[in-house]
Amino acid sequence: MSRTTPATPICTAAGAGTALDGSTRFAGRRLHLGVCGSIAAYRAADLLRQWQRLGIHVSLCLSRGARQFVTPLLFESLGAAPVYHDLPADESRDSLGTFAHLEPGQTAHAMLVAPASADALARLAQGRADDMLAAQALAFDGPLVLAPAMNPRMWAHPATQANVATLCARGAQLVIPDTGGTACGDEGRGRLAPLPEIFLAALKALCQQDMAGQRVMVTLGPTRESWDGVRFWSNPSSGLMGAALASCAWVRGAEVWAVCGPGLRHWLPQAVTRCEVTTARQMFEAASELWPGMDMGMFTAAVADFSPVPPASPGKFKKALAPEGFSVEFTPNADILQSLAAGRRSGQKVLAFAAETATDTTALLPLARAKLARKQADLLAANCVNAAGSGFATSTNSMAVVDASGTEAIWPLQSKADVAWELCSWLLRI
Ligand code: CTP
Repeated sequence: MSRTTPATPICTAAGAGTALDGSTRFAGRRLHLGVCGSIAAYRAADLLRQWQRLGIHVSLCLSRGARQFVTPLLFESLGAAPVYHDLPADESRDSLGTFAHLEPGQTAHAMLVAPASADALARLAQGRADDMLAAQALAFDGPLVLAPAMNPRMWAHPATQANVATLCARGAQLVIPDTGGTACGDEGRGRLAPLPEIFLAALKALCQQDMAGQRVMVTLGPTRESWDGVRFWSNPSSGLMGAALASCAWVRGAEVWAVCGPGLRHWLPQAVTRCEVTTARQMFEAASELWPGMDMGMFTAAVADFSPVPPASPGKFKKALAPEGFSVEFTPNADILQSLAAGRRSGQKVLAFAAETATDTTALLPLARAKLARKQADLLAANCVNAAGSGFATSTNSMAVVDASGTEAIWPLQSKADVAWELCSWLLRI
């Protein structure tokens, strides 16, 4: 088992998806995006499209430097509106009577600068207002997110660090640049952060921090119980439901720990502390250690209930040893949720899941009620793992949800991101 808050999380591919990609909860919000002069300026186009897919209205401002790399037409063609650039000498009001440098501050819910150049950080720290981007940032009193990108020596320079510290002290959120090789050939920290990280930082800035102060533990993914030197017993869980809950809780302000089974394919924000485990026993140990300090436990992991008893000789089991086939014996694993829920201190909330096979979602209700009682959970969400679009390794779920007070709900097929959002809201209410 290893516990990390990795500098670079597990999914590093440029377009790696996040577990909130299917969310409908941000539709109609407005994000104002500032783009500065950097080789990474073109990546703002990908970010723009990702936010737009969630129904977020994105307006944009290109600095003079950014226009050396990308054009307003690129972003206008992708649907950003309005797209601002220079601060005209005789700036006039728009059709609604608003000055361009004040307009985002009056209507956008959050402002994000990506890439933010060293020069932009210096100008924002000084409160300059002699170009459109700086003036709009100065006139913006909502959440401000900065995703810097520059040469590693420029990033490490005390002047840049002091500017970043000043901006953070005033409430700006920083998306720390990534490490690695930069386009200029230098190595170190300075590359634009991975896009999923910037994407999620914007979602956090766009929503209410109603989970602030909550310490949340999520178990997710499958476990893997090895048999011989090369084979194991597991299940097809992708960890998406758990990644959606972890991301959702973080976006809404919670501090999050994720106890992850092997092979998680979904992005988790860097601020989420990850405990990487393989077996059910390791997951149990990691979760047990974390649990006393938590306010909420969200148990989404598809834990193997049994582990195969390994053959007597270590290494690979050779087929010549069993030409007629053979039987494997299994021993039971601890029930992580049941054990932690039974020993919890007062005030800790427990969200359980149930993977069931049933004819339809309504038929899940009695099974859900029985499992809620058996596991001593506060809230339980059951899904049909045999239904189309529901269960393991799908992006959607239809669920039967029950809580300990007797309240029940049937949720039709929706994205796991939306299921996560609703479950977090339900947990806050009970
Ligand atoms: N769970 C757990 N540890 C286990 C088994 C399950 O923490 N060893 C948790 C799951 O993460 C889930 C809930 O218990 O939140 C229910 O899991 P599920 O597989 O549906 O039920 P089981 O308890 O395994 O019971 P059964 O297989 O009989 O349905």
